[in-house]
Amino acid sequence: MSSVAEIFQTMSYGPAPESDVAARRWLSEHEKGFAHFIGGRWTTAVGVSHFDVFEPATGQLLARVAQGSDVDVDAAVAAARAALPAWSALTGHARARYLYALARGVQKHARLFAVLETLDNGKSIRETRDLDIPLVARHFYHHAGWAQLMESEFPGYGPVGVVGQIIPWNFPLLMLAWKVAPALAAGNTVVLKPAEFTPLTALRFAELAAEVGLPPGVLNIVTGDGETGKALVAHPDVDKIAFTGSTEVGKQIRRATAGSGKKLSLELGGKGPFLVFEDSDLDSVVEGVVDAIWFNQGQVCCAGSRLIVQEGVADQLHDRLRARMERLRVGSPLDKGVDMGAIIAPVQLERIRDLVEQGVAEGAVCWQPSWACPTDGWFHQPTLFTGVAPASTIAQVEIFGPVLVSMTFRTPDEAVALANNSAYGLAASVWTENINLALDIAPRLQCGVVWVNATNLFDAAAGFGGYRESGFGREGGREGMWEYLASVDGREGVAGAEGVAGVEATEGADGVESLDGPSVARGAPPENQSGAHLAGGQHHSGAGGSRSPLPSEQPTPTPHGETLESSAPEHPPLPPLDRTPKLYIAGRQARPDSGYSIAVHNPDGHTIGQVGDGNRKDIRNAVEAARAATKGWARATGHARAQILYYIAENLSARSTELAQRIVGMTGVSERDGDDEVQAAIARLFTYGAWADKYDGAVHSVPIRGVAIAMHEPIGVLALVAPQRWPLLGLVSQVAPAIAMGNAVVAIPSARHPLAATDLYQVLDTSDVPAGVVNIVTGERDALARVLADHDDVDAIWYVGSADGVRAVEYASAGNMKRTWCERDDARDWRDPSSGEGRLFLRHATQVKNVWVPYGE
Ligand code: NAI
Repeated sequence: MSSVAEIFQTMSYGPAPESDVAARRWLSEHEKGFAHFIGGRWTTAVGVSHFDVFEPATGQLLARVAQGSDVDVDAAVAAARAALPAWSALTGHARARYLYALARGVQKHARLFAVLETLDNGKSIRETRDLDIPLVARHFYHHAGWAQLMESEFPGYGPVGVVGQIIPWNFPLLMLAWKVAPALAAGNTVVLKPAEFTPLTALRFAELAAEVGLPPGVLNIVTGDGETGKALVAHPDVDKIAFTGSTEVGKQIRRATAGSGKKLSLELGGKGPFLVFEDSDLDSVVEGVVDAIWFNQGQVCCAGSRLIVQEGVADQLHDRLRARMERLRVGSPLDKGVDMGAIIAPVQLERIRDLVEQGVAEGAVCWQPSWACPTDGWFHQPTLFTGVAPASTIAQVEIFGPVLVSMTFRTPDEAVALANNSAYGLAASVWTENINLALDIAPRLQCGVVWVNATNLFDAAAGFGGYRESGFGREGGREGMWEYLASVDGREGVAGAEGVAGVEATEGADGVESLDGPSVARGAPPENQSGAHLAGGQHHSGAGGSRSPLPSEQPTPTPHGETLESSAPEHPPLPPLDRTPKLYIAGRQARPDSGYSIAVHNPDGHTIGQVGDGNRKDIRNAVEAARAATKGWARATGHARAQILYYIAENLSARSTELAQRIVGMTGVSERDGDDEVQAAIARLFTYGAWADKYDGAVHSVPIRGVAIAMHEPIGVLALVAPQRWPLLGLVSQVAPAIAMGNAVVAIPSARHPLAATDLYQVLDTSDVPAGVVNIVTGERDALARVLADHDDVDAIWYVGSADGVRAVEYASAGNMKRTWCERDDARDWRDPSSGEGRLFLRHATQVKNVWVPYGE
């Protein structure tokens, strides 16, 4: 036996096992067999098949769980649908009380949940006890708060409806909480499918829901594998799908839901960069790496799996890491002294081993500690690869295991380039003692979360989610709530936006144009339709109601020196136009590659002009120009971008007569409507000029000594496919918010009435818009939209058009998981500011990056 002094010397660990008695008793009470939880009850369908659930640390059978069929999914969706009216009609306060009760329930049974999770998943009890389960409770508390504040903070918004949620195995109960809490807070009802490897805590949670009296059908749990998930995704009565899992399945879901009208959020894989600058505190870095890649055995989508270290300190850091790895403890996850538990399943262990072999075969240097892992379960040693080539498989593919790959850099620019050399964009860590450097680097990293001198920090108040192949949508905080909200009256905009309480849409009786007929203002006095309305008197504003002339609406000289007042009453018939057909790319008018033009007709069928017939090559050139422009434009200040938007408005105003007449000529609307459209476009540019320096982010109140800064970032290259009607206003309504937020755009104007867009070239040319920030390609609208949706260097696409067009764009977007915002042509009245502008557009034009900055010595 060793003396205390000897033990103190060696500091060797003894076993410190957590008791699993209560968890196993719970399993026994259910005879280790589970049905689905539908409509508040366990289902007992005859002939249900079951699958086995194993304990990763021992390989032993834990339970047998029902395999959900189409019939089960159908029953669960029906139960959720039936529960929806009553649940969504509850006051926010009433829903808050249920969420609060769930939070309390999780806390009351915290240890049972933690041990069950450890048995089912193989992750260490330290993690389930200290991180997973407390965060689950925190999510329900936080979202009880959003339920309470629903009416005041999200006026005009309500639930999306029945939500299908599919979650992975790496954080089983936590992922449930991330999905269920905001969904229920917003008044949705839920069908959740846990991962087939780890359904047990979700089933225990279903019991808890019943215990707290959650109304039957509000939360339904259907267990099963990918086939069950597929059935949920395909179900026609589901209004939204929220998924966390592999990028491959995320892409399948994107394609399966294309054109279905289902709202979608995807949290997918990652290959997180962990940047270490040479002034870092290397001891802290070593502990950071442990938390980044050996936390949860590296089975974490935001794991810091790519160590990118400055050359001067690389050897030193690798030495310290190897020493630390030698002391890591791998073993029974119920042992409180263990650092790493088991890998989820043999198939995942095989995948990790294969990738490690591939890394060796590709010439990287592999290092593992001298000790061996237990052999009675599924374990893998912590592994470090050095000398890794940035393009090699192990540097690019998500290994989802305890494997770190290391690369070196010399300059900050090189570090950023290496970090961004990935199809993913979920999370990153930046380590440096120089806060200026950290905050300069953070915005340049293409990912949704950045931790400064820290890693794997999560909280319900801060949004989490990625860019590109890491998916889209955010979970947590106010930004996460939007994923589960829809506007109550189908229109979104200023009304109901963050913090804007009680703003009502102002739709006047005479301001609404019939959506399917020709543009005729209802209820306007006949004399007004052709009268000299601009200079005074009652004016049809597009948003309804009447208004006085604005200062900028003094009689405007036309290019011919006349004023609108003197020329407007005459409405001389437009002479036929012979236009040179060109596109607008990189700040220049460019001939279409095809060498073809398309005739543009007026409603009588007469040709009134021509535009270039853009093709794939023109789109490539436009995207290239936009990409080149993003860098400078994204960095321009909000003030500078506002100045340019106002300048465009000023120049548009100077040509308003000409543009109004063009609209009349193309579309056949009245003079007054033509003019209204131009004035509305000018007002819209002012709106986004106003917003350019006001769409602030937030500082989230997270429970650390520090701040989580939620920054609104431009998305990058945005493809815009404009509505067919309101050819000028529709286009401006898309371009203005996009560029106000720092994106560069490739816009496809109305195919029916494209000349308003080609007229805009000159306006852009004279308004100091940097080359490439706005590119316009005319041609076959839907064909060009498809090329843009396919294009890997387009980051997001907005499409307004046909049902077929929506489906095609959403389907093609799965290639690089670009964000989509697709609507039918008649989805909104673009002239109505409560529908055609506002925060909704700004949200679609930005992505939120959460930068966590802990402080204190
Ligand atoms: P997966 O993406 O297949 O599974 C995640 C969830 O989706 C599970 O509930 C599964 O049953 C369900 N699912 C599978 N196919 C589906 C389909 N066609 N339609 C609807 N639902 C479907 O992930 P898997 O196979 O468990 O792990 C494979 C790899 O995925 C891992 O090695 C890792 O790289 C990555 N992964 C990433 C996760 C993340 O958090 N980002 C989580 C889990 C896995």
